[in-house]
Amino acid sequence: MRIILFGAPGSGKGTQGEILEKRTGFPRISTGDLLRLAVRRKTALGLRAEADMAAGRLVSDEIVIGLVRERIAEADCLGGYILDGFPRTVAQADALAAMDGGRRELVLGIEVDPEILVARLSGRRVCPSCQAVYHLVAQPPARPGVCDACGAVLVQRPDDGADVVRTRIAVYLETTAPLKDYYRRKGVYRPVAAGGAIEEIAREIGAVLDAETGGLISGGARA
Ligand code: AP5
Repeated sequence: MRIILFGAPGSGKGTQGEILEKRTGFPRISTGDLLRLAVRRKTALGLRAEADMAAGRLVSDEIVIGLVRERIAEADCLGGYILDGFPRTVAQADALAAMDGGRRELVLGIEVDPEILVARLSGRRVCPSCQAVYHLVAQPPARPGVCDACGAVLVQRPDDGADVVRTRIAVYLETTAPLKDYYRRKGVYRPVAAGGAIEEIAREIGAVLDAETGGLISGGARA
């Protein structure tokens, strides 16, 4: 099975993806995380992606499709996987269908009002060392400004500044949001109202999954 977490910047895809990864045992593949790793390591691909990411634009389809193609070919994806932040264009969705089309697919639409997105992104803090994600209000660390997991000083993601956030949301609305209809037409899109608390949304996602799979992939079983 393939689960696609689909939603605007800051909607909570990563937060719910981590919970879902534990629940299903499927690896979570975040194209944002893969790209940030490439940027930190200063690989050729990272150097090509860096300016677009900093400006809030999409990285080229060619780069992102290549990353996903390599990652889903790894052994841990055989039983199923979770995509977070991919696909974001029709070309990416078509490429995914072509590279792994036979697999059952469920698209969870993480749906949030736009004004909530800005509050979530402006309050996000991340650990530059272990990449843990916090929120000043909703998910604060035990000691303000310090990572619970590794003790590093938390920072704001470079693309979470107000101007870049505006660009990211505009790019989402123009280029990515139309994919909702693409997946509706395929009959695999399931909306999840995601304006509430993290645990509440996780419960709703669990209920959707149970309804779709007859409880088969709850608790780590594979489908
Ligand atoms: P990416 O990292 O994928 O960014 P994004 O889609 O903009 O999503 P975010 O990571 O910002 O948000 P999220 O939905 O995961 O929310 P989170 O759970 O962290 O991509 C970054 C860049 O890489 C792109 O701009 C692009 O340049 C490039 N890129 C990536 N994929 C690409 C692709 N396929 N094609 C081309 N380019 C690509 O939550 C946000 C905050 O809210 C956190 O602080 C969290 O603690 C908090 N929060 C979460 N849920 C709740 C809740 N229920 N209540 C209160 N707070 C909450």
